[in-house]
Amino acid sequence: MSQKQNILQNKLPKHIAIIMDGNGRWAKGKGKFRIFGHQNGVKAVRETTEACAELGVKYLTLYAFSTENWSRPKEEINALMELLVSTIRKETPTLMKNGIRLQSIGNKEDLPAKCRKELEESIKETEQNTRMTLILALSYSAKWDIVNSVKEIAKQVSLGLVKPEEIDENIINNHLSTAAYPHPELMIRTSGEQRISNFLLWEIAYSELYFSSKLWPDFTKEDLFEAVINYQNRERRFGKTSEQMAQSV
Ligand code: IPE
Ligand code: IPE
Ligand code: MG
Repeated sequence: MSQKQNILQNKLPKHIAIIMDGNGRWAKGKGKFRIFGHQNGVKAVRETTEACAELGVKYLTLYAFSTENWSRPKEEINALMELLVSTIRKETPTLMKNGIRLQSIGNKEDLPAKCRKELEESIKETEQNTRMTLILALSYSAKWDIVNSVKEIAKQVSLGLVKPEEIDENIINNHLSTAAYPHPELMIRTSGEQRISNFLLWEIAYSELYFSSKLWPDFTKEDLFEAVINYQNRERRFGKTSEQMAQSV
């Protein structure tokens, strides 16, 4: 029986972020090359995207390639970039059919031209879709994003457009690549690793963290539902006491 019916619509996270980890170990466990794991990870991307759309989650951010991942063997990087191009091409009609808008965060300049082109075309084609926004983090790292934000703000200060004493959380937030999206209430990482690996450091200041021991290619819709139920059973206090939270509802 699906866990979906146990999910409370009035406590649904607006934004879920996922660190899709464990593709390499999944493939190795089957005696295959790492890229076989990445290829099989696409199915889990489809499953989680569908699950979020079905539930009514408005934003889903998937960590697909980090700044640090550029240090992997050249063959793995090339294969990943090829997979990205073919997946975006293949999946765009499904995004259109399901009303999903594609967006990306990260340093697009670093991506091979073919990859950037495919990504930009799909972003353009899906830009009017309103049911859900799927954000791919590509050549992304949170520190990279924060450094860029600081540079932009420093420029404005040097031009006299912003006074140093005016810099607040909103100004920093508005210069991040995630400025247009709400912060994720729930962050999931698969593969049993319990670390953030330079993902959305600013935005997850108050996110609930959920670690699944499943390797990413094995992650299903039901696993996503389970994570949401786990999230819904938590008390988010934002620094207050439990008693204060009870009074405010
Ligand atoms: C996650 O799986 C996908 C990417 C980082 C691109 P990994 O490739 O990190 O798989 P493991 O962690 O080595 O098993
Ligand atoms: C994080 O996974 C990046 C992505 C999922 C894209 P990694 O496998 O690269 O992270 P570490 O090296 O285990 O921290
Ligand atoms: Mg990994």
